[in-house]
Amino acid sequence: MKCVDDFRLRFGKREVVPIIIGGMGVDISSRQLALEVSRLGGIGHISDAMLPTVTDRLDKTKFVSVKQKQYKLNIKETDKSIVQFDLGQIAESTRLHVSKTMEAKRGDGMIFVNCMEKLTMNAPRETLRVRLCGALDAGIDGITLSAGLHLGSFALMEDNPRFRDAKLGIIVSSLRALQLFMRKTSRLNRLPDYIVVEGPLAGGHLGFGLDWAKYDLHTIVAEIVAHLKTEQLDIPVIAAGGIFTGSDAVDFLENGCAAVQVATRFTVAQECGIPPKIQQEYFKATEDDMEVNMISPTGYPMRMIKNCPAIGAGIQPNCEAFGYLLDAKGHCDYIDAYNRELALHPDAKKISVKDKTCLCTHMRNYDCWTCGHYTYRLKDTTHRNPDGTYQSLSTEHIFKDYQFSVDNKIALPPK
Ligand SMILES: Cc1cc2nc3c(=O)[nH]c(=O)nc-3n(C[C@H](O)[C@H](O)[C@H](O)COP(=O)(O)O)c2cc1C
Repeated sequence: MKCVDDFRLRFGKREVVPIIIGGMGVDISSRQLALEVSRLGGIGHISDAMLPTVTDRLDKTKFVSVKQKQYKLNIKETDKSIVQFDLGQIAESTRLHVSKTMEAKRGDGMIFVNCMEKLTMNAPRETLRVRLCGALDAGIDGITLSAGLHLGSFALMEDNPRFRDAKLGIIVSSLRALQLFMRKTSRLNRLPDYIVVEGPLAGGHLGFGLDWAKYDLHTIVAEIVAHLKTEQLDIPVIAAGGIFTGSDAVDFLENGCAAVQVATRFTVAQECGIPPKIQQEYFKATEDDMEVNMISPTGYPMRMIKNCPAIGAGIQPNCEAFGYLLDAKGHCDYIDAYNRELALHPDAKKISVKDKTCLCTHMRNYDCWTCGHYTYRLKDTTHRNPDGTYQSLSTEHIFKDYQFSVDNKIALPPK
């Protein structure tokens, strides 16, 4: 019976354990998590979501307070178009986060950055270019382009000296999305180095509608693998979403995938960015607590634990400090929803906004508990302590369980 360790992901002459830990924003896939995975010989991700606030917290920079001070007179305004990011500051925070991670890197694995393209930051092309090139300049091994895949992203990096040497990958949820991307980038003579195929059971934003349950990862992977074969394109395909055991992974590795991308099991790792108290909520969650809703202002469905504070909260939009979801015209759907509720309840001390959430603030504060579908199985991966809490797990334990387990078994950690 095979285990994941019988396979290797190859990039030219380089070989790694075919386990990739997916990017999880905002700083859920932390430096420590990525560094551990790289030490263990796999591929770890950091996330480039909201890096100015992340480096403020980790490295004592002051990006958020500077921006907030600059735009403080706009806080009560509904029009946020003047709230622009300083491109120099984005570049600096990206360089800081990436270089600090890469300098600490040990082992034979790799570290990629997940770049969520739906973070339009009131100037989509300019800010994305700075984020992508900043990560390349700071020595990242690879970039995974995700949510809201911008068909022109490769072109934004075209002039960077590392454009052809860094690994560049994309996340798609359908063959159609892949074909669109390939058509658009064909003039650059630069194919993606890997393609992550993310199915409907993943965490974070989904590349499906609310009818996500009708889709199946195996089917989408098979279509994409067959298409690449027909086109004689030798690009590693990486399956993601709902791969919970080593045996689930082997199933994909035996059927045309070069690696798997996993995340949910690592949300309860000691090195993951989610605070321990909230990790207990992930452990406790039942299948009934999983929901896919439309409250993200990005317009994409997102999976969350039902009782998280972000759902139904009515906080004042915080775009002067954050504003990562402002589109090219300085608009975010949460601002409209918030102002509508405020007008309907002018005398209320506290309002509730049910249809949208202030995703920047809630993600930054770990109040939006986004999760993969199988979060409700996390309790089966550890021991219950006498006080009713669940024992935390090391990244090494979870990684090795994926790497070596057979027969759908999950190894429990030492007590
Ligand atoms: C808590 C959490 C946050 C996530 N955030 C992101 C993100 O910011 N960007 C992204 O591309 N994918 C994100 N994902 C998706 C993962 O990177 C990964 O592809 C997917 O969840 C794998 O499926 P699994 O969680 O069932 O193992 C997130 C997943 C989780 C669980």
